[in-house]
Amino acid sequence: MGLRCFTVFAIFVLAIFPQVQGQPANRLLHLNFGHSSPFSTALETLQKQIGYTFKSIGLLRRAMTHASFSEENNRALAIVGASVIETSASLRYLGKDIDLPAKDLNLRLSEISSVETSCAVDGSRLGLQKIVRVSAKTNSSTPALVCGAFRAIIGAIAIDAGNSDDAGKIFWVVHSGRFGEALAF
Ligand SMILES: *[C@@H]1O[C@H](CO)[C@@H](O)[C@H](O)[C@H]1NC(C)=O
Repeated sequence: MGLRCFTVFAIFVLAIFPQVQGQPANRLLHLNFGHSSPFSTALETLQKQIGYTFKSIGLLRRAMTHASFSEENNRALAIVGASVIETSASLRYLGKDIDLPAKDLNLRLSEISSVETSCAVDGSRLGLQKIVRVSAKTNSSTPALVCGAFRAIIGAIAIDAGNSDDAGKIFWVVHSGRFGEALAF
């Protein structure tokens, strides 16, 4: 009897818990679906800055959503982005010098993938720390978070475009600081 009661209770808790847990974030996500919200406006500006318009804006929303904010977040996109950046850099470096020793290639790849000195710098250039959605307790300016958001944008572009070429190009434009020229009028 006691066991049966417990089983029913456990099933009830298991059934309801994920919904309860997911709710606040979902509600916030829905609030942000309006086109005039500051978040939507920031995403519009961001697309102009990087010179890429998303076919699926949901991908950019997700890229600009930290794991502290919702279960629908940018973690997997950041992995894709890191991989796109490495591939694009490898192609560029070996394209310029096919005799580049493996040791030097590795060194350059680790430089361009560095969270603190490269990736977070690129992300801050785009002002991602001011755009990315985080929980109230989370500092959105930490290098790891800004870098994750930057990589996630690159990953999101690759998925949106269906290839890694556009994403690689945009990575170089931002990395070299030559982005947003169209906005400078
Ligand atoms: C947030 O992180 C940045 C970068 O690490 C740091 O400079 C800043 O002091 C932090 N802010 C708070 C409120 O902890």
